[in-house]
Formats: sequence, C-alpha cells, structure tokens
Amino acid sequence: MDADIAAAARVLEAGGLVAFPTETVYGLGADAENPAAVARIYQAKGRPNDHPVIVHVAPGADLDYWVTDIPDAARQLVAAFWPGPLTLILKRASHIPDAVSGGQDTVGIRCPAHPVAIALLSAFKGGRGGLAAPSANKFGNVSPTTAQHVRDEFHLDDVEEGSITGEPACSAGLHVTVLEGGASQVGIESTIVDLSRLATHGPVLLRPGHITAQQIADVIGLLPAAPDQAAPRASGTLESHYAPRTPVTMVAHAALADTVAQLQARGARVAVIGHACGAMVDLGDSQRLLPAEPVGYAYGIYAALREMDLVKADVILVETPPQSSDWLGVNDRLRRSVFGSTGILARFLSE
Ligand code: TXA
Ligand code: MG
Repeated sequence: MDADIAAAARVLEAGGLVAFPTETVYGLGADAENPAAVARIYQAKGRPNDHPVIVHVAPGADLDYWVTDIPDAARQLVAAFWPGPLTLILKRASHIPDAVSGGQDTVGIRCPAHPVAIALLSAFKGGRGGLAAPSANKFGNVSPTTAQHVRDEFHLDDVEEGSITGEPACSAGLHVTVLEGGASQVGIESTIVDLSRLATHGPVLLRPGHITAQQIADVIGLLPAAPDQAAPRASGTLESHYAPRTPVTMVAHAALADTVAQLQARGARVAVIGHACGAMVDLGDSQRLLPAEPVGYAYGIYAALREMDLVKADVILVETPPQSSDWLGVNDRLRRSVFGSTGILARFLSE
C-alpha cells in the first residue's frame, strides 16, 4: 500500500487524477495549485466549471498558506474537528487558482480523517500540497462510498483491487488512479460552514452533515444559520443532486405496504429502502433495510441507492426518515435525490 500511495502522489504531482477514500465519501483529487490538473476533474465529472471544489490538506497544514482573514472561530473548529468531516469556507489566498474557487473570493478547505487520505496528503508535495477533490462521481449522481463505486461511475472495471498500475482511461478519455480504502465510515459528504462573512452574517451552514450545527455552536458559541440569498454557492445545494437513474420518492412508514401493493397491482416493479420495520414488505433483493438511527443510516444510504438503482425497478420508494435535527444531513441528501421525480407515484397510480 505504501508503494501505491507514493506512486499516487507522483501521479498527482505530475498533474494527474487520483480517486481516494475519505471518511465521508471518495474524492477525485488533483493538485489544487495546478489549474490544468483541476480542469481535468471538471472534465472527468462533467461538472460546470463555475462550481467550486474543496481543497484537502494534511493534518497540521499551514492554514495561512491557503486562506486569509482567518477568524478565531475557524481555528477553534480546526482544533476541535480536524482531521474530520468539516469543511470551512474562508477567504482564499491569492495563489489559489480560479478553477478551484469557481472564481469566488472564498475557498472550501478540509482535512480528511481517513488514514489513506492522510497518507496520500502527507506524501503529496511532502505534506505541503493541497488536493482539490469533489466527490468522485459524475455531476449530479450519487456520491461513491467504496472504490468499486468509483470504478462503476467512471467505467474503470479493469483496475485491479488496490492496484494503481492499470490507470485505465475513464469515459472522458482521462486517466484515473483509484486508491482502495474500504467503505467510507461517515457515508455522506462533510458539513460545510461558511466563515468568510462571519463579522456581518455569522456562521452559515451551507451543507448539513455528520458534524451538526449544535456541535459547531458548542465550540464557537454561535449557532450556524441557514443560507441566505448572498451566501456562497455550493453545488451540493442544487435542488437536484445525489440522484440515481431510477426515480426515487419518499413514502411514510404507515403508507409503505399499501403503496407497494398498489404499484405492484399495476405491474410496476418496486424497490424499497426502509429503516424501521423490515417485515412490512418482502421484496427480496429489491429491498434494503438501513439502521433506524442517523449515523448508521448515513453510512449505508448511498450504497443502498446504488444497489436499488441496479435492480432496474420503475421506482425506488424510500421510507421517510424521522425529521428531527439529528437526521438533517440524511434528509438533505434524500430531498435532492427525489427532486425531479415529483409526481411519479401519481403517474403510476392513475394509470
Ligand atoms: O465530504 C466531502 O466534502 C467530499 C469529500 C471528497 O471530501 N467532497 C465533496 O465535494 O463533497 P463536492 O465537490 O462534491 O462538494 C463540495 C461542495 C460543493 O457543494 C461546492 O459547491 C462547495 O462544497 N464549495 C466548495 N468551495 C466552496 C466555496 N468557496 N464556496 C461555497 N461552496 C463551496
Ligand atoms: Mg459531490
């Protein structure tokens, strides 16, 4: 593995792309200070190039090298949560390429906790570099939480497990090296907090995640607010995102069995992702049961969406999770997965 990490670091230093595990989801990384390398990320993802990407740094990295006007609150959050699933939006240093920040005067920065990510960041430019890395999926798709998901996403099927020697071309005609790191522990993307306008707007929660607004408030004494009109843009905050190909819709627990029966009576193929009562419906391989608590649910939801996408159902029904604040990150991702499938049940049931 050490040799794989060293080789991957050389690929990155030469301007190439490396997909690597983080504790949240797998990232598609490139040298954040090399605009041509960052452009390859956008090309591979099919992502609009005005969408900013997060810069990943090694533990103990010099924050002042990457960002300016750093408020005390930022240093407190770094001390409390890094390495870990928290991204801070701060004013960018002048040498950060436009390609990383989408032309904005801010940059997202985080230090991931996964040991492979830390080893890679420590090997890359001797630990002084930064890796621009969005989630390693095509734009708008479900984020990958295993190396296999990444290979599926970019059609890299001939890469050997743990090997980076293959470097096959991905669908955009680019080369992607994949580092193996097991299933991502957290399972949904990092919490994003904007601290770039702290003096005027206070902290703003741009994307909910494993680290909650309350945990942030406990450290800095200010509860992050919901985004306002002028808040920095985040592509994960587009209404439609994290979506499988099969339409997805939410169904309340009480209506689930009945909805499945009605759909099946009309000849529709149904897949279900539940979280509480597995015995309610029996769909064999077309069903996944996730834990009924938010941490375990977040760990499994993206893999479940991918698996249920593969069974080629007409619709994926997701049993509506609880709406309490500890489920905020999960509900945020599900809301974006179902967007675009509005009215799908009515269409089936009116036929
Ligand atoms: O957990 C994560 O954050 C994963 C892993 C790979 O680290 N990365 C990730 O990246 O989710 P991506 O690109 O899929 O989502 C990054 C989000 C986007 O919504 C992007 O718009 C936002 O961060 N973002 C990055 N820089 C920003 C900035 N300067 N201002 C506002 N939003 C920013
Ligand atoms: Mg993403």
